[in-house]
Amino acid sequence: MTTLQGTTAETPPAQTAATPTVPALQATLLRHSFGGNEVLHGVSLAVQRGEVVAVTGPSGSGKSTLLHLLGGLDRPDSGEVYWGGTRADSLDTQARARLRANSVGLVFQHHYLLADLNVLDNLRVPGLLLRQELTEQARELLAAVGLSGREKAMPGQLSGGERQRVALARALVARPSILLADEPTGSLDTANAQAVSLLMVELARKNGAGVLLVTHDEAMAGRADRRLHLLDGVMTGSLPEM
Ligand SMILES: Nc1ncnc2c1ncn2[C@@H]1O[C@H](COP(=O)(O)OP(=O)(O)OP(=O)(O)O)[C@@H](O)[C@H]1O
Ligand SMILES: [Mg+2]
Repeated sequence: MTTLQGTTAETPPAQTAATPTVPALQATLLRHSFGGNEVLHGVSLAVQRGEVVAVTGPSGSGKSTLLHLLGGLDRPDSGEVYWGGTRADSLDTQARARLRANSVGLVFQHHYLLADLNVLDNLRVPGLLLRQELTEQARELLAAVGLSGREKAMPGQLSGGERQRVALARALVARPSILLADEPTGSLDTANAQAVSLLMVELARKNGAGVLLVTHDEAMAGRADRRLHLLDGVMTGSLPEM
């Protein structure tokens, strides 16, 4: 008689080679021009959940342009962008903004905190949902970035490093599956830059988010799981030997 004897609760589910892993972020053959001048010439990449990928490249090579396309802040001339398997670039502006609010966290060199809102409210704004659970998540993240007790502080009362830690917490508050960061420590001194970059990698990994990080900071790029290099709008797999 066939029984299920021998099959215990600890038996892991069958994994087959065909089990698909949907990347947190995927882009295929992105092209983008400004006024007839093409600055991205068919860039493709994928970032898995929990993976940190650093993008380096000279000034003007197209890094920020690429991040804007990946974050849905701008549309590519051609090519496709997927957030967790959902095609984002072809959505209309409203639908894309709604999906972005739940899927993508953005951190830039400038913190872009709203000066008239306190720290806690800055974190609650991105979802535009002043739900209790968002408040709790915001408080947890503020604690994680070392700013417990500063919820009522105004951005103007914080140091540059503290403001950037608030910006990082804000980017993660909606539990995005993708974190896009464009030189997030570019305006900080070395000690603060290191503290913020370590926090970013740690928190993103803990939240299972895939991270794409544009940086000129070698130490920061060295902490990534993988490195990509953009040169004149063309992506290469890794940094050339130096
Ligand atoms: N809004 C725009 N209008 C016209 N040209 C633009 C615009 N934004 C970027 N460019 C041009 O596109 C190219 C790529 O710019 P981008 O900002 O993506 O470079 P980057 O790699 O981020 O440089 P950096 O390291 O200095 O930040 C540059 O030649 C730039 O002048
Ligand atoms: Mg840039």
